[in-house]
Amino acid sequence: PKDLPLKGKRIVITAGPTHEPIDPVRYIANRSSGKQGYAIAEAAAEAGAQVTLVSGPTILADPKGVETIRVESANAMLAAVECALPADIAIMAAAVADWRVAHDSNQKIKKDGSGLPPALNLVENPDILKTVGHLQDKRPKLVVGFAAETNDLIANARGKLERKGADMIVANDVSPENNVMGGDNNTVRLVTHGGVEDWPKMGKDEVARQLVQKIAELS
Ligand code: C5P
Repeated sequence: PKDLPLKGKRIVITAGPTHEPIDPVRYIANRSSGKQGYAIAEAAAEAGAQVTLVSGPTILADPKGVETIRVESANAMLAAVECALPADIAIMAAAVADWRVAHDSNQKIKKDGSGLPPALNLVENPDILKTVGHLQDKRPKLVVGFAAETNDLIANARGKLERKGADMIVANDVSPENNVMGGDNNTVRLVTHGGVEDWPKMGKDEVARQLVQKIAELS
């Protein structure tokens, strides 16, 4: 029915930042608020889907009607996503940290009096979208990613579509003057293998509702 376009569909969504531990009291993070991903989760649930939201640390309340799993790190987020599969649709909206500290300390790191700072050795995190996009048996029929860029938006989004095995990339310009990170509005461009669709500036809730409609048409 037209009023419940995602009835019976299972959706896994990631949202928010990740926190990568340095020691028990410190971490590496980013400015993602989780608002866009949470709005999509809520809109998908309202559209009749069975939604699992895998969220990094945020100050947001669990969206209504959504199974919300809270994690800290990229590794934990990947494990939770794998647990939530199989699903019909995956929407990877989290701002996953690209790197983590290779060996986080189990004690608080102290100044040692030498005046020299400690070295943080970073290693690359797993790419959750790329992992899901390239699954053999359990690949969801529709895999959607995001591209937050400050330059060459479409070229970068097209690159991600290919590299990560996605069906759609929701591209947005996160240059500071647009106030997307943490803000309530978003201006997105949908990049698929078929082309690019430009949407006007809207509230993140409205972007979520229209994205859910679009995803229902494609799935
Ligand atoms: O490569 P980049 O981080 O710009 O790609 C963004 C897209 O990839 C988003 O959909 C994001 O959720 C996803 N991603 C991921 N795991 C990572 C890095 C990005 O799922 N480690």
